Amino acid sequence: MAENEIRKGLAGVVVDETAVSKVNPDTNSLLYRGYPVQELAATQPFEAVASLLWNGELPSDQQLAQLRAEERRHRPLDARVKAAIDLLPLNAHPMDEVRTAVSVIGASDGSGSVLDASGSPEENLAKSIRLYAALPAIVAYGQRRRRALDLVEPRDDLDYAANFLWMTFGEESDPVVVDAFNRSMTLYAEHSFNASTFTARVITSTLSDLYSAVVGAIGALKGPLHGGANEAVLHIMTEIGSAANVTAWLDTALAEKRKIMGFGHRVYKKGDSRVPTMKAALDTLVAHYDRPDVAELYTTLESEFVSRKGIYPNLDYPSGPAYNLMGFDTLTFTPLFIASRVTGWTAHIMEQAASNALIRPLSAYNGVEERHIEGYVPDELTLAAAERPEEAGA
Ligand code: COA
Repeated sequence: MAENEIRKGLAGVVVDETAVSKVNPDTNSLLYRGYPVQELAATQPFEAVASLLWNGELPSDQQLAQLRAEERRHRPLDARVKAAIDLLPLNAHPMDEVRTAVSVIGASDGSGSVLDASGSPEENLAKSIRLYAALPAIVAYGQRRRRALDLVEPRDDLDYAANFLWMTFGEESDPVVVDAFNRSMTLYAEHSFNASTFTARVITSTLSDLYSAVVGAIGALKGPLHGGANEAVLHIMTEIGSAANVTAWLDTALAEKRKIMGFGHRVYKKGDSRVPTMKAALDTLVAHYDRPDVAELYTTLESEFVSRKGIYPNLDYPSGPAYNLMGFDTLTFTPLFIASRVTGWTAHIMEQAASNALIRPLSAYNGVEERHIEGYVPDELTLAAAERPEEAGA
C-alpha cells in the first residue's frame, strides 16, 4: 500500500493482529481460536463457545459448570434495567432498547467512573459474563413488551439456549428448535474486525470501559449494511410473498438498483462459510414446522440472484427465515445478533486492552483552503500556537 493511499472503508487494510478468530475467504473458512465454526456449531453448547472466545480454550467440564452457574446468577432482568426499558416508547427500535439497557448496566456497575476505566483482565471477564448472561432477558422482555405480555422469569433447569427461548415465549421449545437456535448463536458469535467489533476496539483503545465499547458496537451493528440485514431479509421475503413472484420482483429490484439484503459480503466473495450450517438448521425448522413454502422461496431467490449477479448469500439470509419460523418478531432479529456477538466483542475488547495502542488514523483534507474571519486580530497565544503546528489538535 503506497504511503498516503486512501482505502475507502479501510477495505483490505490490516489494522492489527488478533488471536480470537481467523477469516479465510479463499478457503471459505472461519476459525474461532483455531476451531472451524461449523464443528463448534455441531458439537458445542453456546456457553462453551463463549468460554472458548474469552479464554482461548474450550472449557473443561468443571469450567463449563462454573460458567453455567455464573450465567444463571446474572439471568434475571435487573429492576433498574426493566424500569429503563419500560420508560421507552413501544415503538422504539429494539436495538435502541438493548443499547439503552446495556448503558444502564454499565452506569449501575460503578466501575466506569474512574479515569482509566479499562479495567483489569479479571474485571473485564466478569463484566463480559455478566452482559452475556443478562442480554437474553433484555431481548426476550423487549419482544414480550411489544406484544403486551409480561416478563417471564428465567429457569435454572434450562441451559442458555433453551432458557433464552423460554423467557421469550413462556413455553419450553422443542429440542429441534433449541438446537437450531444454539447453532445460530455460535455462528453469529465472532467474525474478526467487522464494523461493530472494530468500533468496540476503537472505544477500548481510548481506555474507556467495556460497557461503553459494547454500547458503541451495538450502534454499529444496528445498520442494515451490518447486523440489520437479517431483519431486512425478512422484509424482502415478505415483500416477495412466494417463490412464484421471485423473477418479476427481482427484475424490478435490480432495475431500481436495490441492494438485495442477505447477499454479498465485504470479505467473502465466493460465499459465506457460515451459510451451509445455518441453512441446514433452517431445513430442520422447515421440516419441524412443515413450511416447505419457506424453503422454496429461499432456494428460488438464492439461485436466481446468484445466477444473475454472482453474489452469494451471507449468514443473515438463512438466519432471517429461521428466526421467523422460531416465532421471533422481525424486529427482534438484530438484538439476537447482539446477544451472540457480545461474546466476540468482549473477547476483542480484552485483547485490545491487553496490547493497547490508541486507534487514531489520519485523513486527507479536501475542504476549503485556509481562510479568516474578517476583522479578526489574533492574540499572542494564537500566533505562538500557529508557529508550533505539531502541538495543535488532538
Ligand atoms: N444486492 C445487489 N447488489 C449488490 C449486493 C446486494 N446485496 N451486494 C453487492 N452488490 C453489488 C454492488 O451494488 C456493487 O455493484 P457495482 O460495482 O455495480 O456498484 C458491487 O456488488 C460491489 O458491492 P459493494 O457494496 O461495493 O461491496 P462491499 O464489499 O463494499 O459491500 C456489503 C458488502 C455487505 C455491504 C454489500 O454486499 C451489501 O450491502 N449487502 C447487503 C446487506 C447485507 O446483507 N449485509 C450483511 C453483511 S454480513
